[in-house]
Amino acid sequence: MAAPVVNAEYLKEIDKARRDLRALIASKNCAPIMLRLAWHDAGTYDVNTKTGGPNGSIRFEEEYSHGSNAGLKIAIDLLEPIKAKHPKITYADLYQLSGVVAVEVTGGPTVNFVPGRRDSSVCPREGCLPDAKQGNQHLRDVFYRMGLSDKDIVALSGGHTLGRAHPERSGFEGPWTKEPLKFDNSYFVELLKGEAEGLLKLPTDKAMLDDPKFRHYVELYAKDEDLFFKDYAESHKKLSELGFTPP
Ligand code: HEM
Repeated sequence: MAAPVVNAEYLKEIDKARRDLRALIASKNCAPIMLRLAWHDAGTYDVNTKTGGPNGSIRFEEEYSHGSNAGLKIAIDLLEPIKAKHPKITYADLYQLSGVVAVEVTGGPTVNFVPGRRDSSVCPREGCLPDAKQGNQHLRDVFYRMGLSDKDIVALSGGHTLGRAHPERSGFEGPWTKEPLKFDNSYFVELLKGEAEGLLKLPTDKAMLDDPKFRHYVELYAKDEDLFFKDYAESHKKLSELGFTPP
């Protein structure tokens, strides 16, 4: 589909949608699932074939019915009234804007948002997103395919500071941190502390501690929240712009 024309009018709609998203996320406490939607739309990118990425294709049943997207239809439906109110804004932009606002309103860093993503109606094959039951080689295979780095892998895993796993969606259960609606560096602090009653650690989360390169960043981010916020904001921007050349 054609790229949207990013003129003054489009930018004004983006500003208005941003306000609507803040209100929606505050009233529904849905920051975690909004961040997850943005990540799952973007995280299908393949740097070699230049396919997938933040292109709104997750709005189609073919893609949201993939096992790894279980539950995300809830987020898609919550955003539909905002799309109807601002029809000029592409799904691709709206989903990424929603992820950026989710991080911001829960106390996280401001992620620079550049609009202009085009929508696609081509869905990626199933299996492009990471499988929580696997280890570090798998994480690298998947994130390197997106064109992302070791540092991006660890910084972005800090997104698990928000939200929880739901047994009926992923088979896992519980939040990663004691305050799952607050964006901070507690994901890394808890990961280093080890198993704790009521808190979740996915096999992929724990695996990062066994790899010296990953562990280096986990330790840095647990110690220095400002550094985590700076690196997270950069990595999140990269994720939100995979395959996208700003106009
Ligand atoms: C939730 C896996 C990376 C953000 C989940 C869940 C799993 C998972 C299994 C639970 C889903 C459910 O049961 O509802 C993984 C794996 C990753 C990864 C294996 C590989 C590193 C990321 C990244 C972000 C992210 C990069 C964002 C930057 C979230 C959020 C939730 C979540 C916010 C909570 C959703 C909610 O509360 O509804 N993830 N994830 N994840 N993930 Fe990830």
